[in-house]
Amino acid sequence: MERTLILLKPDAVQRGLCGTLLSRFEEKGLKIVAMKFMKITPDLAGKHYEAHKERPFYPGLVKFMTCSPVVALALEGNNAIKICRTLMGATNSAEAAPGTMRGDFGVSRSYNLVHGSDSPEAASRELSLFFPEGIVSWDSAAWNWAYDPIEELKKS
Ligand code: RTP
Ligand code: MG
Repeated sequence: MERTLILLKPDAVQRGLCGTLLSRFEEKGLKIVAMKFMKITPDLAGKHYEAHKERPFYPGLVKFMTCSPVVALALEGNNAIKICRTLMGATNSAEAAPGTMRGDFGVSRSYNLVHGSDSPEAASRELSLFFPEGIVSWDSAAWNWAYDPIEELKKS
């Protein structure tokens, strides 16, 4: 079972797309294990996007991510990281495939609506940055109808 950090970015909040985007994750079968409406501080944005510090778009990225509130989510599921990235689509919304969140709702490379962790290491680091208090463990009634228990047993 994997966990991933998802951010509904300032453009998603401003455009009133939070419910629509959250539904896509929920409908796919991902479980919400933490959710927070918050403003990202420049310090947190710097830590979160540490890997991009030297990139030319970094100052603009920090400005964008801190200019208006976001929704931070921790989502859980088998292969949650890859599944979420697939649902989100390519970084540049203008080139993202139809059917993906960025492909259906975006036209911009930088204002691309949603963030998702890109590896287990990044997920673990980002989840502790955004949810230092931890996540909420709970049993989902839908779980055993979303995942075939026999298929899951064979994987382990
Ligand atoms: P994210 O980290 O937000 O999930 O997006 P990503 O993996 O698809 O893309 P990444 O390469 O990690 O870039 C982080 C965010 O920086 C902005 N960006 N702007 N103007 C530009 O050339 C440019 N390139 C990237 C985007 O908001 C991107 O999501
Ligand atoms: Mg990234």
